[in-house]
Parts: sequence; structure tokens; C-alpha cells
Amino acid sequence: MNILFIIFILIISSIIIKIYLRLTIVKCNSQMCLIGKTALITGANTGIGYEIALDFAKRGARVILACRNEQKANEACRKIINGTGNENVVVKLIDLSSFASVRAFVEDVKKSEDHLNILVNNAAVLEVGLNSLTEDGNLLVMQVNYFSPFLLTVLLTDLMRKSKSSRIINLTSVMARVAHGFNVNKMGNAVGTLNDYGITKLCMILFTIELARRLDEREITTYSADPGLVNTEIFKQTPSNMHNLAKFFKRFFFKV
Ligand SMILES: NC(=O)c1ccc[n+]([C@@H]2O[C@H](COP(=O)([O-])OP(=O)(O)OC[C@H]3O[C@@H](n4cnc5c(N)ncnc54)[C@H](OP(=O)(O)O)[C@@H]3O)[C@@H](O)[C@H]2O)c1
Repeated sequence: MNILFIIFILIISSIIIKIYLRLTIVKCNSQMCLIGKTALITGANTGIGYEIALDFAKRGARVILACRNEQKANEACRKIINGTGNENVVVKLIDLSSFASVRAFVEDVKKSEDHLNILVNNAAVLEVGLNSLTEDGNLLVMQVNYFSPFLLTVLLTDLMRKSKSSRIINLTSVMARVAHGFNVNKMGNAVGTLNDYGITKLCMILFTIELARRLDEREITTYSADPGLVNTEIFKQTPSNMHNLAKFFKRFFFKV
């Protein structure tokens, strides 16, 4: 009887959550023409970054796919060009786990582009359970999700100032809300937990707010965007029990 009651409560709660998600999901239906605009999206070969790149290409933008894996990036580029008919889509390589790579990437962008209207800091890793260090001596999740997007953004702001009304969009996560123990002086103490991922996303939100304060909003505006739960490759970077949990819930709670 008790078990039946618990199952009943679980089913009812799930249905309520599902209805809540249905009613609160917001979809961007903008048809704003982006011809003449240049957009740069990190991690654009898959997942949310790919969909953003596809949408911008459909609307006529010049799109720079900033990716670490050349083969995957070229495949995505071909798919976007074939799917949209927009041939103004290019691949540029960047590895966010290396500051040298970020700097070389920016030099490359500055050589080929005379303006940049949209920067989407999308690429990130979850890497729960991994505490590997980068060549720069930082925890991978901290460098890929926060330090490198920070560096990339700062290095690109001059180029972005050249066009009116440029935008910087930083992808965040609900995990930022539950992140705890954040200490700006102890960011090197992270050990690769889900909480550390949340901390990187909290850092991105704080960074976005500070950017908004420092930049002239007539030139560049900044945004944090939480995409909600989306079924992407990112959940493969979790221990198998979490991955299985994500697989179980994805049909019910994930957006796609
Ligand atoms: N999916 C969700 O439910 C969810 C929820 C909240 C927030 N988000 C945020 O949304 C953004 C996109 O996530 P997603 O779910 O689309 O993830 P995803 O499918 O795993 O895609 C992540 C992208 O980042 C790239 N990347 C990883 N490490 C990199 C590095 N060192 N240098 C350059 N690129 C690197 C990946 O490249 P490879 O393909 O080569 O690995 C991939 O293109 C992330 O910021 C994530 O935190 C996602």
C-alpha cells in the first residue's frame, strides 16, 4: 500500500513537472535577418552550439564555427551549408583547454574578420569525476568553461566594438544556482565535481554582469542564457550511473 502510494506520488509529481516544463519552455522564434552580421560560436559542431550556428546560418549570417576537432567541425560545417544554402560558414580551430590556442585563434579571427557582431560562449565540459589538469596547470573544467571563454571574450571585445550593437551570449546552467563553496581565491582547489561545473557556470554569470557594467551598452550588450535540460553529448561525460539516470529522465524531462 505504501509503495503504491509512493509510486502514485512519483507519477503525479512527474506529470506536474512535465506540465510545468511544457508551459515554461521558451523557444526563440526570431526571424531577424542576420545578413551582413558575423557570428562566432564556440563548440558549434554538436549539441546546442550546432543548433545556434544552424539558426544563424539560416538567417543569413556569416558563421564561424569555433571548434577543437577539425573533422567534426568540417562535418558540421558541410551539414549547415547543405541545410541552409548559406556558404558563408567557416571553421576555425580553438582548444579552450589551452590559453596559447585561444590567443592563436583570436589572431586568426582578427586577420580574417573586420567585424564581429555576435559571440556565443557555448563550449563547455561537464567532466564529472575527472580532475585532469590542462597544460596551463588549471583544472580542465575551470579552464574550458570559464578561464578560456573569459580570455577569448576580452581579446575579442575590440573587434566587437567596431560594429554597432554587438552581443556577447554566455551559456550558463541551472547548476549555477546550486553551486556552493565558491571562493574566488580558491578556484584552483576544484576537483572535478558536479559542484565545480556549477561554479564555472556561476562564474560565467558573474562575468556577464561585470562585462555589462564595464562595456558601453551602445556598443556591446551581454547576456547569460540557461538553455534548460537538452539531450546532448554533454551527459556522456558523467559517471555511468549519472549517465543512465540522464538517459532515463531524458525522454520525460529533456527539451529534445
Ligand atoms: N545540455 C544541457 O542540458 C545543458 C543544460 C544547461 C547548460 N548547458 C550548457 O550549454 C552549452 C552547450 O552544451 P551542450 O549540451 O550542447 O554540450 P555538448 O553537446 O557536449 O557540446 C559541447 C561542445 O563544446 C566543445 N568543447 C568541449 N571541450 C572543448 C575544448 N577544450 N575546446 C573547444 N571546444 C570544446 C565540444 O567539442 P567536441 O565535440 O570536440 O567534444 C562540443 O562542441 C554548455 O555551455 C553547457 O554547459 C547545457
